[in-house]
Amino acid sequence: MTTAMCPGSFDPPTNGHIDIVRRCAAIYDRVVVAVVSNPSKNSMFTLAERIELLDASLGDLDIVDLMSFDGLLVDFATEQAVDVVVKGLRAGSDFDYELQMAQMNSHLRGMETLFMPTSPDWSFVSSSLVREVARLGGSVGDLVPAPVAAALEEKLA
Ligand code: PNS
Repeated sequence: MTTAMCPGSFDPPTNGHIDIVRRCAAIYDRVVVAVVSNPSKNSMFTLAERIELLDASLGDLDIVDLMSFDGLLVDFATEQAVDVVVKGLRAGSDFDYELQMAQMNSHLRGMETLFMPTSPDWSFVSSSLVREVARLGGSVGDLVPAPVAAALEEKLA
C-alpha cells in the first residue's frame, strides 16, 4: 500500500489542486490531502472552510483523506505513514522553492518528494491570483470548482 501526500494551504482550492489530487489518486493507494493550519497567516478561508471546500470537490474519492496539520510537514507525513509527498509544478518559477523544500524534507526525515507537472490548462492559476481576481470583481468560475466559486462569491458579497 503506497500513500501519497498532497500538502498545501488551499486558500482556496483551485482546479489545479484538484487535478493534481485526482491524478495522484489514480496512481497511489491512498492520498492524504494535508491542509496546513497556518494560524499566523491571514487566510481568506478558515481551516474548516478549506477542508469543507476540498470535501465538496473530492468527496467522491474514498481513497482521499482530508486532514489538517500544523508544525513540520515531515512530522505529520511520518505520523500518517506517507511514502511520498507529491507537489504540482506550474512553471520553472515554482521549481527553485519546491526543490529547496523537497531537499529540506529529505534532510529532516528522508522524505521523498515527487513533482507532477500541472496540466497546462491550470498552469497560470494560483490561489493568491484567484483571491485577487475575485476580490476585484473578475470571473474565476472556470478556474475553481463550483463550490469554491460560490463560496468566494458569498465571502466577497
Ligand atoms: O500551498 P502552499 O502555501 O504552497 O503550501 C506550502 C506548504 C504548506 C506545503 C509548506 O508551507 C509546508 O510544508 N508547511 C509546513 C511547515 C514545514 O514543514 N516547513 C518546512 C518546509 S521544508
